[in-house]
Amino acid sequence: MKVLVLGSGAREHAIVAGLIRDPQVDAVIAAPGNPGIALMCDTRPVEATDPAAVTALAHDLDADLVVIGPEAPLVAGVADALREASLPVFGPSGAAAVLEGSKAFAKEIMAAAGVPTAEAVAAADETDAADALDRFGAPYVVKADGLAAGKGVVVTEDRDAALAHVRSCLSVADRVVIEDYLDGPEVSLFVLCDGVTAVPLEPAQDFKRIGDGDTGPNTGGMGAYSPLPWAPPGLVEEIVTTVAQPVVDEMARRGTPFAGLLYCGLALTARGLRVVEFNVRFGDPETQSVLARLETPLSTALMAAATGTLAELPSLQWSSDASVTVVMAAAGYPEAPVTGAPITGLTEAAAQDGVMVLHAGTTASGTAGQLATSGGRVLSVVANAPTLAEARERAYAAAALISFDGQQQRSDIAAAAAAGQITIPSTTD
Ligand code: GLY
Repeated sequence: MKVLVLGSGAREHAIVAGLIRDPQVDAVIAAPGNPGIALMCDTRPVEATDPAAVTALAHDLDADLVVIGPEAPLVAGVADALREASLPVFGPSGAAAVLEGSKAFAKEIMAAAGVPTAEAVAAADETDAADALDRFGAPYVVKADGLAAGKGVVVTEDRDAALAHVRSCLSVADRVVIEDYLDGPEVSLFVLCDGVTAVPLEPAQDFKRIGDGDTGPNTGGMGAYSPLPWAPPGLVEEIVTTVAQPVVDEMARRGTPFAGLLYCGLALTARGLRVVEFNVRFGDPETQSVLARLETPLSTALMAAATGTLAELPSLQWSSDASVTVVMAAAGYPEAPVTGAPITGLTEAAAQDGVMVLHAGTTASGTAGQLATSGGRVLSVVANAPTLAEARERAYAAAALISFDGQQQRSDIAAAAAAGQITIPSTTD
């Protein structure tokens, strides 16, 4: 099987790595890819949000399956164009991708499907937004209504900062979403969907704030781990039954079936599980750790979702190892990442036992092909080991071998979980 992977981040690097170790895959081509991906497979330049260009490339390559990594091509209708050309594609249609593209639409679907979520108001002006902020109280949750690559959410105790984000959102969109704050630990569950059937992967947790102890501004994600040793028994089944399957059913009922990856971002609150957000693609950096533990050939799972045969897919097989991903980010991230810093130590880090180093914001265009930083999140260091504590040690030991000026990383990825310190609030707390 020949697979074309669209995208250029660490998530796509993880997908490529998963496909390369899949015995059913003969060739992987990434477009446009990145310098790390280019060490593993052929890469091609492409305008990833151009449906005609991607379809032409898939035809040229005679691809058996196209996997779309990021949300922007999905919202731009790239999956629709590929389906119209009868090419199997992993990724939802433009109409279904609105689940991520519009937070207000996601709320509408959840209301129709009876899915538990935070109470929310879609405000069209600053006065309505301020009223909603006062009604829900601090901490304030303000979400941009549109694609924001995971960075459009501000959670703050400071009402002025919340209002500043309201104004910034309303300067680029007609609506801003104000939500009730959800207490309790967060869970990311990726669910493969084929328009009818929903098949969950193993859950993960990510770390959205830049600083240790969940401090500082939100980012695209500073680290992740899987599995979740603290998750209550039956959690995954409950999420599928109360969240993923009702959403798949509601999308089908509306004539916009959801086929691809439904990313359910949830909080386990004192009042039960609540959806924080949906995304319509693999999450970054959770994918790096989730796919590092998948033993079933990845192409089988993605192809079943692409061809409407998930009901026939045998149970997915998982490594009993834990996996921890530590993101190394550039100086100035997330506000103003500094680029162009030379990176050293990658080869040594990648040679460590159980470790993969996945690229995101790197470029090989420096002097003599020297790798340098070219984006906010630069690298994901992924380590597998029998326990979460050992996976943490491996990931941090490997990350310590890599250096670039001003690099930032959190030191507490998976720390609370490894120490058994995560609890789900109860109504009696
Ligand atoms: N993990 C956050 C995201 O992928 O949007």
